[in-house]
Amino acid sequence: MRLRILFLIAAILTFGFVKGQNTITSAGLIPKPVLMENNLGAFELSNKTTIYYTDNNEELKKVALYFKNLIKPATGFDIAVKPLSKETTRHSITFEIIENPELGTEGYKLKIYPQVITLSANTPEGIFRGIQTIRQLLPAKVEKKTVQKGPWKIPDGEITDFPSYRYRGMMLDVSRHFFGVEDVKHLIDLISIYKINTLHLHLSDDQGWRIEIKSWPKLTEIGGKTQVGGGKGGFFTQEDYKEIVRYAAERYITVIPEIDMPGHINAALASYPELNCDNKAKELYTGTDVGFSTLCVHKDVTYKFVDDVIRELSAITPGEYIHIGGDESHATKKEDYIYFISKVQDIVAKYGKKVLGWDEIALSEIKPGTVAEYWAKDSNAVLAVKKGGKILMAPGSRTYLDMQYNKKTPLGLHWSGYVNVKKAYDWDPATSVKGIHKKDITGVESPLWTETIKTFDDIEYMVFPRLPGHAEIGWTPAKERSWDDYKKRIAKQASRFKALDINYYKSPLIDWKE
Ligand code: ACM
Repeated sequence: MRLRILFLIAAILTFGFVKGQNTITSAGLIPKPVLMENNLGAFELSNKTTIYYTDNNEELKKVALYFKNLIKPATGFDIAVKPLSKETTRHSITFEIIENPELGTEGYKLKIYPQVITLSANTPEGIFRGIQTIRQLLPAKVEKKTVQKGPWKIPDGEITDFPSYRYRGMMLDVSRHFFGVEDVKHLIDLISIYKINTLHLHLSDDQGWRIEIKSWPKLTEIGGKTQVGGGKGGFFTQEDYKEIVRYAAERYITVIPEIDMPGHINAALASYPELNCDNKAKELYTGTDVGFSTLCVHKDVTYKFVDDVIRELSAITPGEYIHIGGDESHATKKEDYIYFISKVQDIVAKYGKKVLGWDEIALSEIKPGTVAEYWAKDSNAVLAVKKGGKILMAPGSRTYLDMQYNKKTPLGLHWSGYVNVKKAYDWDPATSVKGIHKKDITGVESPLWTETIKTFDDIEYMVFPRLPGHAEIGWTPAKERSWDDYKKRIAKQASRFKALDINYYKSPLIDWKE
């Protein structure tokens, strides 16, 4: 008799799932959670729903309000947000802070029953990441800006989830083409859906200086006034930058500013003649060559300049890292490069920050806590680890979002090869460089250089659908990932891309489900 009941339950469950009912495992979640379990049924979001948060925790309340405001435009529900005072019964979503070492800083546990949802984490940051999962379990039309017809069902079940790597980032080059505060905020919103937690801003290069430095005002007055192709360029005031940092922090995204040195520096050399060895200002540059400029490494004023820039930038950057560039300094003698990077490291340390730099910085001495961003050269990554550093994985052949998908796609370059959606996804950071292991790696970053990228539509075309794949590589354990499974899930994200009006590249490798 017991067996027959069990069969009956199994049949009901199977029937429900086969009928195409949305379940946790069929929703196409990206990044794929560590553990998922389906249950029959669904929680239905409605006007009666109340969001509770525990411990009168003000930061948690802010995260709860973020969720309320996220779902408001499409659902039309003005959901109440209240501190939890007693056991909740029906129509409730509870965000609670717990202590569970397994979950770490960003992990969460999500339990969804027909009447109640509980999202638990060690930190409000973990709750924020879990909210992105709830978001992806809701119908994609929840992303729309105007009121849509329900029902707003969230499938029942349980998820336990936490990231493989602490650093999961994207880089935007605002030097080759400038993008303003609103564009950067929009990008922050889009990448947060996939649990990205770091935004690296490439703020200076040959073509443009994009951050106000009050003690060196001509950097932006002169160095900020053009870009690739000769357009008008632009720059962030320090107030603009602080607003980006604040907005990102609300989404638990850390901003890492980059000042690229000693090469990639023509915009500064054009702004101040004294930064040149011959005391003559360079012309502004609007082409796309690399490797031709260098700071004058043996002049005192160079280090006064670097000190002022790092001091001002550190004061408005709450994150622990300053990115000092260090790539492609072909116009700097090797011994000068080593000398320069060592001195700059001391300056960064003086202002209480740690150094992040492109993999070439490993040629210099590096301090404990330094991170080398692997983009090109295996031997540099190995050297960095040998010297006590860590590695941020951003291999050009896998993660560079400015590489064309294939010969026919219109935007981007291909000096690092063509990076189609499968190539971007189907690799493991822990096994891709001989001699570099998971313990040496802080995480994964996807850089978008903007030589050919002029509009936000262009950004979207290069970022989507590759970035969600990188986000999953950084979050989901390697043994839980496969291309065949991923390509079905990314196909389902298309309805979300569409609802968000994202100009994504419809790769023919994917059977898109808009
Ligand atoms: C780089 O692509 N030059 C870091």
